[in-house]
Amino acid sequence: MVDLLPELVAEADEARYEIYYEIFLGGRFAQQIDALHQRYGPIVRINPFEIHISDPTFYDTLYNFDRRLEKHNVQHTGPYHQHNLRRRALTQFLTPRAIQRTEPLICLNIAELCRRLCEAHSSQQPASLSHLYRCMTADIITTFTLGESYKLLQNPKDSESFLQAFAFSFRLLWLLREIPYLSIAVRWAGKTLGRWLRADWVLATLLRWQWAIDTQLDDLQNDRTDGKGLSSIISLYLSNNLPPHEKTTQHLHDTVNMLLAAGFETTGFTLTTATYHILANSAILSRLGQELHAGIPYPDHIPSWQELSRFPYLSAIIKESLRLSLGASARLPRVNSEREVSYGNWTIPKGTAISMSHTDLHYDKSVFPEPKIFKPERWLAGLESKGMEKYLVPFSRGGRKCMGEDLAYAELYLTLATVFRKYDLQLYLTTLRDVEPARDFFVPAPEPGGNGLRVLVNQRQEENAPFT
Ligand code: HEM
Repeated sequence: MVDLLPELVAEADEARYEIYYEIFLGGRFAQQIDALHQRYGPIVRINPFEIHISDPTFYDTLYNFDRRLEKHNVQHTGPYHQHNLRRRALTQFLTPRAIQRTEPLICLNIAELCRRLCEAHSSQQPASLSHLYRCMTADIITTFTLGESYKLLQNPKDSESFLQAFAFSFRLLWLLREIPYLSIAVRWAGKTLGRWLRADWVLATLLRWQWAIDTQLDDLQNDRTDGKGLSSIISLYLSNNLPPHEKTTQHLHDTVNMLLAAGFETTGFTLTTATYHILANSAILSRLGQELHAGIPYPDHIPSWQELSRFPYLSAIIKESLRLSLGASARLPRVNSEREVSYGNWTIPKGTAISMSHTDLHYDKSVFPEPKIFKPERWLAGLESKGMEKYLVPFSRGGRKCMGEDLAYAELYLTLATVFRKYDLQLYLTTLRDVEPARDFFVPAPEPGGNGLRVLVNQRQEENAPFT
């Protein structure tokens, strides 16, 4: 292990040190890592097994240079060869072409979101967009993964308890990592108790939902979905030429959990971030409105995401939203089991977990002046903006980066274009504190006690068409 300053070793020697910040203070270890860097410099040991580096220029060297790195975090993704086999089997359903084919499915869910906005308009009630966006992204990823939507947008009561259970499972991630037997216990309880639990409390919902995943998998494996599941990722994965040990119920269950966890909160949070900042800044709202009006003459005919990705201002907004919302707020540890890694004068022994955090790149003021300010214009400055792209890494980089990047972009472009072309929204009792990343539960979360993003939905003044 690298020889670090003695007081840091003493502080970080115990894994309990991390548990205190993660569990007792609730997702605050990332802030403590920042404080350690300010005290000790760009490289610190943060627990007995892991080194953290805060240096934007080192990101590509760590993540993008050697594809054989292993992940070492809450996602138990196995050694390189095994992970690569699984990854190849899954990514073929998430290529740009595959997403283009399934674009109508995304649009159906956006249409459902629009119905909720129309209802809010008719009843003159604020709509909780942070909630509705998450329902929509969960409905999309469940349809992609299992062939059947959870229909959260249509069921306010179910959606409330499901999203609470999901948020709770993100808070459990750190415990699951520290106490691996806990995930075996949760799995066992889901299998044996899940079907009998009817109560609405969070743990009951979590276990019932884990049991429901097993039931859906069983239906898919035994062709009992009336054709609905045929084009789902799991069905296609099952028909893939993989060895049987890659298709066990346990592995399929873990894969479903990974896809659902990875696919909904991230995109939901990015949409929330984008919408808040657009509405909080009238100049940005007006410039976006002009671009959308010029490029989309009929609000009911939204272009494909490939066409939308050529809208410069909308694209700049999406980049800026991905920058501020971070992707993962958690550090992303990698292990090089085959060779040592050099950083400056340091030589880090092979087998050591090394991590970096997106905040160190996305909020670096030497790369992004006024880093906490939402400024889409920074992405429209020609060559200067090109230079910043290197430090925008919401999906991470290298052989273990996000698999759902194209699906995420399709959702972001289509949803923002539809919502801002069709509706005149106004923030309702929402401040930056309700949406700004403050805590880290692998994905970022705002300070507790907020009400999320709420909006009033108004008729667009210039449209005479019926409100849809
Ligand atoms: C704005 C939206 C999203 C962002 C910012 C995002 C970001 C990330 C990040 C930072 C990681 C960790 C990568 C690493 O450890 O290096 C990740 C992993 C992953 N993401 Fe996403 N993601 C998004 C949406 C999605 C969607 C819609 C899916 C749907 C399939 C998805 C699927 C995955 C999967 C499967 C992994 C694990 C990859 C692996 O371990 O090889 N993501 N994502």
